[in-house]
Amino acid sequence: MEISEDLWQQVTEGSTSFSIYVDADRIYDASVFYNPKMAINRDLTLLILSSIIKIEKKRICFLDPFAGTGVRSYRIITELPQDSVEKVVAGDINPIAVNIITRNSNNLNYDEILEIRHSNAIDILDSLPKKKDTVHIIDLDPFGSPIEYIEESLRSLRINEGYLFATATDLQVLCGKFPDSCYRIYNAIPTRYFLCHEVALRILVYNMIISAGRLGLAVEPILCYNHEHYLRVKVKVKESKEVANQQHKKLGFVYFCKKCSYIETVELSDDLVDASCTNCSEKLEKAGPLWLGNLYNIEFIEQMKKDIGQLTLHHEKKIEKVLSLILGEINSPPFFYYIPFILRFCKKEGISLNQIIDSLRSKGFLVSRTIFDPQGLKTNASYNEIVTVIKQY
Ligand SMILES: C[S@@+](CC[C@H](N)C(=O)[O-])C[C@H]1O[C@@H](n2cnc3c(N)ncnc32)[C@H](O)[C@@H]1O
Ligand SMILES: [Zn+2]
Repeated sequence: MEISEDLWQQVTEGSTSFSIYVDADRIYDASVFYNPKMAINRDLTLLILSSIIKIEKKRICFLDPFAGTGVRSYRIITELPQDSVEKVVAGDINPIAVNIITRNSNNLNYDEILEIRHSNAIDILDSLPKKKDTVHIIDLDPFGSPIEYIEESLRSLRINEGYLFATATDLQVLCGKFPDSCYRIYNAIPTRYFLCHEVALRILVYNMIISAGRLGLAVEPILCYNHEHYLRVKVKVKESKEVANQQHKKLGFVYFCKKCSYIETVELSDDLVDASCTNCSEKLEKAGPLWLGNLYNIEFIEQMKKDIGQLTLHHEKKIEKVLSLILGEINSPPFFYYIPFILRFCKKEGISLNQIIDSLRSKGFLVSRTIFDPQGLKTNASYNEIVTVIKQY
């Protein structure tokens, strides 16, 4: 395709200015699209990289095999401390993307630090030398699901015990609109109920853990969240069959009642035979298998929070809020109660989430809000204890 000089535009994200090629009115119709809405995703990537650099005390080599315009790679090179980034590899299958990346690399004088590949991501992953300090962090940002690239990425990270980041935008599949596709692609049952995003995220982590386990690797979630139209998973990869065995004990199912909103989680080995609601006897629905363990690592989240002011983030305030919410729910059990449904079942109204939180806390329970839903509540109190508190009002 002919590149027209008139169609280049300069944009700035964080403190990085670079050129994009705008050959369509709508961003999604462009040959290579730049999505400013994903700036928060890239902000969080910078923050977590900053925390990895501090915690691991080492320079990083980063692979961006679905680079698109290359914005993520430029921001890493420009905005992280200069001596902390050893190398960034940016690749894309689309020749126009590679043209954009080459142009920016020349303009920004990145030749020494940025390696550009015009290739299929699988070939890039395959071609990485399987030796120390080649690539520590791989960030998968394809269209749709990252699933087909996960095993190859884990193999590449085996020696370096690095980090795997992945974005998934196939929420119609993972959030249950196409359950047969979810079962085929992720070998798991999704749901369209209010738990859908947490279920989707935990199905994706489950798949990483299963792939890693087969290779004798363990995958530890550092920061996994959903935002608008995508899921984002960031995990640390360790070579340890023992840790992997322990993690496999935290795989299971979630059961839920659509009549009274009761929730129960069970490990894979304890799958329920008689799945009826202990509260209202309705038949329970099931989602999974999925990961029942932590979605966050406190050391990394605290470090990220400390580093916010040190970077030029596009969405500083929003990120501060998200990290505070995460720190609030970091020790909570998986899944949350959707309070409006429980209030409706109890035929109660006018009781605020804060009143319920205060009452449960005064009884000694662990309670928090959740990033998954502003009306959600995470707690180690049982369903009956929540109902008892609600009925007091
Ligand atoms: C969601 S976009 C990437 C956006 C980019 N990471 C960003 O932050 O702006 C996905 C990119 O993956 C590229 N792509 C799709 N399939 C690919 C493959 N098999 N190997 C390498 N690149 C691929 C597309 O050309 C597209 O540029
Ligand atoms: Zn019920």
